[in-house]
Amino acid sequence: MGEFMATAVFPGSFDPVTTGHMDLIERAAAIFDRLVIGVLANSSKTPLCTVEERVQLLKELTKDMPGTEVLSFDGLLVDFVDSTGADTIVRGIRSPADFEYELPLAQANYKLNCKADTLFLATKPEYSYISSSAVKELARYKGDIKGFVPGSVYQFLMQKCNYLDS
Ligand code: PNS
Repeated sequence: MGEFMATAVFPGSFDPVTTGHMDLIERAAAIFDRLVIGVLANSSKTPLCTVEERVQLLKELTKDMPGTEVLSFDGLLVDFVDSTGADTIVRGIRSPADFEYELPLAQANYKLNCKADTLFLATKPEYSYISSSAVKELARYKGDIKGFVPGSVYQFLMQKCNYLDS
């Protein structure tokens, strides 16, 4: 038996983490010995949650999942992958549009760091309409996000967006 630990990074903005993300995290954690969830700190998108909030929510959600850890990162994904000792990037694909967007990114990341191979996981069809952007839009206009996010994230956003006051 060698000492090799198959480590993957599951990167994203996770603003906020959705039910779809959690399904992918569970499935990726079952494939790899170690799964590092990488939360991008400096997203160009207008954030709903701070990076600390996003990391905290993910830590709570994964606390009983062996082999998982949550870290934030800044800068290039391939450098973060290197810093964790991982050699695989896991990304979820909901649709052909996702694949069109993700393929050149995966190829660019491989060009930058040939240790950083990307593995695509097909999301379950029941989650294919879920996105953090949709959750953000719904949260801003007080739409019902119950079916989109884990219970703890729902509670957190309810308080953050003052839903309880309305
Ligand atoms: O959840 P998202 O917003 O779809 O995640 C996108 C993410 C974080 C994977 C991507 O934006 C990223 O890797 N950003 C870090 C900067 C980088 O390395 N970009 C790719 C250069 S080719």
